Amino acid sequence: MAKTKMARENWGSKFGFILAAAGSAIGLGNIWKFPYIAGENGGAAFIFVYLICIAIIGLPVLIGEILLGRTTQRNPVGAFKKLSKSKFWISVGFLGVLAGFIILSFYVVIAGWSLGYIWEAISGSFYKFSPTYSSATHFNTLISNVAWNLGFTLGFLLLTMFFVFAGVQKGIEKGSKILMPLLFIILIILAIKGLTMNGSEKGISFLLNPKWRSLHGTSVLIALGHAFFTLSLGMGAMLTYGSYLRKDNNLFSSSTQIVFLDTLIALIAGIAIFTAVFATGQKTDVGPGLIFHTLPVVFTKMSGGYYFSILFFFLLTIAALTSAISLLEVVVSYFVDEKGWKRHNAVIVFGGVTFLIAMPSSLSFNVLSDLHFFGKTFFDLADFLASNIMLPLGGMLISIFIAWVWGFDKALVELKQGAENIFTDKPYIISAWKIFIKYFAPVLIFLVLLNSLGIL
Ligand code: PHE
Repeated sequence: MAKTKMARENWGSKFGFILAAAGSAIGLGNIWKFPYIAGENGGAAFIFVYLICIAIIGLPVLIGEILLGRTTQRNPVGAFKKLSKSKFWISVGFLGVLAGFIILSFYVVIAGWSLGYIWEAISGSFYKFSPTYSSATHFNTLISNVAWNLGFTLGFLLLTMFFVFAGVQKGIEKGSKILMPLLFIILIILAIKGLTMNGSEKGISFLLNPKWRSLHGTSVLIALGHAFFTLSLGMGAMLTYGSYLRKDNNLFSSSTQIVFLDTLIALIAGIAIFTAVFATGQKTDVGPGLIFHTLPVVFTKMSGGYYFSILFFFLLTIAALTSAISLLEVVVSYFVDEKGWKRHNAVIVFGGVTFLIAMPSSLSFNVLSDLHFFGKTFFDLADFLASNIMLPLGGMLISIFIAWVWGFDKALVELKQGAENIFTDKPYIISAWKIFIKYFAPVLIFLVLLNSLGIL
């Protein structure tokens, strides 16, 4: 009997795909990063600009990325190989796989803190804070402890590997179907708690009343950069998830649902966090420390805070987990598709390699804190390189590829499958998508890139 190639895996249902993709999108970006960058950039004013970026760049590029995956049924490198012979475009796929690796290497460090903080919450550490032993001191003591840092990073990475190891349907899809509803329920509970606290209306007005003066030119670029990060765009995660889709999926409606869920969760997280922060009289513009410095104090000042703190860090860990899974899956799918590796071997090998590159990021907070490259610690460098350079660059090149290299004629033939009704009933949506991918996305992303490099 002739040996046939093992069939490529795919999603069991449309709902499973939506949850997995929303799981990739919803992560530390929504719950850790979004509230603090909104806090630093004028609250409602920033949110307004961010929503525009999501609508005119995020959504069109998301549709494009998933389309590339579904059309080629390949990982990012394989996808470009299938549609173009040019070495340049194939290297764009490599850039994605590499970005996935780099993001994963610092993502697991913060996710590890989150996992560690579940334990801090359970053990009641937040109640030890006093004027002489602040929440920030506590955090700094923990992250300067090498064993604590590396231990939780490894713990989180093993959780991630577990789901990817189990496969697309049995691991990623099944996991998302349990974790995502759980995440949603916990977030709703936290938002209700925040909204019912005395003084919560100040948090709401912060989120609703724009302070245009705090919105700077760079805020707009931060909003656009964040639109990319939060929707997992520009490095092939959505492309890879799209590659496990069958052709009958309506990409317009799926992508809109993913964007809707991602935005909704970021906004509810903002509500849950800012109502509680204002109600307990804490500051909003504290930057990245908002979650690990400020919130523990907030919890000690609210009734039932002990339980809410456990729920919160559990939520943050789940959100990070479903995103980390998608990052590891990009790397694994490349080795499975292109190099013929077995999934299990790829997960073990690249899970291990991720730990090795996560180590310097993790150690940036203690033994390697004085080691700087271009003025940044290893952690900051990995974050900057991936989030501010590789993702926007990848997103720009993907848009250019679809519009100018692969070409709309071919793209539309593919896009039509599963979305015939949009082509006949709402052709203006198709025209809008074309304009956004062809002009808006490349030009605006180029501006973000110049800003990241300090040129603009
Ligand atoms: N979207 C994720 C978040 O918001 C991060 C991520 C970026 C995941 C790129 C996958 C790919 O946290």
